[in-house]
Amino acid sequence: MADIQAASPETASWDVAGYLAYDFRVSQCGPRVAGFLVSRTIGGEECELLNLAVAPEFRRQGIARGLLAALLAEAHRAVFLEVRESNKVARAFYKSMGFQEVTTRKGYYQSPPEAAIVMKFHSC
Ligand SMILES: CC(C)(COP(=O)(O)OP(=O)(O)OC[C@H]1O[C@@H](n2cnc3c(N)ncnc32)[C@H](O)[C@@H]1OP(=O)(O)O)[C@@H](O)C(=O)NCCC(=O)NCCS
Repeated sequence: MADIQAASPETASWDVAGYLAYDFRVSQCGPRVAGFLVSRTIGGEECELLNLAVAPEFRRQGIARGLLAALLAEAHRAVFLEVRESNKVARAFYKSMGFQEVTTRKGYYQSPPEAAIVMKFHSC
C-alpha cells in the first residue's frame, strides 16, 4: 500500500499503519496488492471515503470500480469524499460511479496548496 501511495502523488500520503484504525479493502492480483480503499463510517449512516489508489500498472482494469462498488453496496445513506480539483481522472472515475460534485473547499490541501471538490453519493 505504501508503494502504491508513493506512485500516486494525486492522493493523500498517510502513514499506512494508520489505516488500521479505519475500514480498508484491498484488491489482490496474485500475491500483490493492486489497489486499496480506506473509509470510515460516521454516525452509523454516512460514510467517508478517505483514500483510494490503484498501482499504475493495474489501472483501467476495473479495480477501483470493484473496490468502490463493494463499499457502495453497504447500507450507507450517503458517501462523501474530497478530491483535488486538478485530479481530473479521479473526478471522472467518481462521476462514472454515480457521485455528484456538491461544493468546493478552497485551500483544503497543502503541498501543493489546492482546493478540494467535495463529492457525494446518495443512496436511494
Ligand atoms: C482514480 C483511480 C483510483 C482509478 O482506478 P482504476 O482502477 O484505474 O479505475 P477503473 O479501471 O475501475 O475505472 C472505472 C471507470 O473510471 C473512469 N476512469 C478511470 N480512469 C480514467 C482515466 N484515466 N480517464 C478517464 N476516465 C477514467 C472510466 O469511466 C472507467 O471506466 P472504463 O474503463 O470502463 O471507461 C486511479 O487512477 C488512481 O489510483 N489514481 C491515483 C490515486 C488517486 O487519484 N486517487 C483518488 C484520490 S481521491
